[in-house]
Amino acid sequence: MSFFEWNDKYSVGDAAIDADHKGLFDLIRELENANLTDGYLAEIIGRLEDYAAEHFAREEMLMKSMNYPDFDEHVKKHRAFVEWLETVKTTYRRAAESPFQIGDMVNHFLESWLTNHIMKDDMKYRDFMSEH
Ligand code: FEO
Repeated sequence: MSFFEWNDKYSVGDAAIDADHKGLFDLIRELENANLTDGYLAEIIGRLEDYAAEHFAREEMLMKSMNYPDFDEHVKKHRAFVEWLETVKTTYRRAAESPFQIGDMVNHFLESWLTNHIMKDDMKYRDFMSEH
């Protein structure tokens, strides 16, 4: 089993948010085996934009509804993801690097995001929610 395989221990107890997270696990595994053409990379960037817009809004609404004390800190990390994605888009538009190089950078960032944000930061609000 790959490290980037969804496991129920990552569930935050909200079906929509869990589905978003599962989608990101799937995307990372998809990228690992992908043939990184220009068109495919553009599609991945589009999917990540949708993810950021929908998932972060959903999660921030939930954290706000339970007065999560680390809300501001958590939101800063979401904004950093959006800024990173803007950099990826700019690099892609300028064709500054090959699709393979950009894809590699995207994959490394997402693996780190999954490990440090979803598996750690998101678990903190999940724990707060279950304790309150
Ligand atoms: Fe699930 Fe805070 O991103």
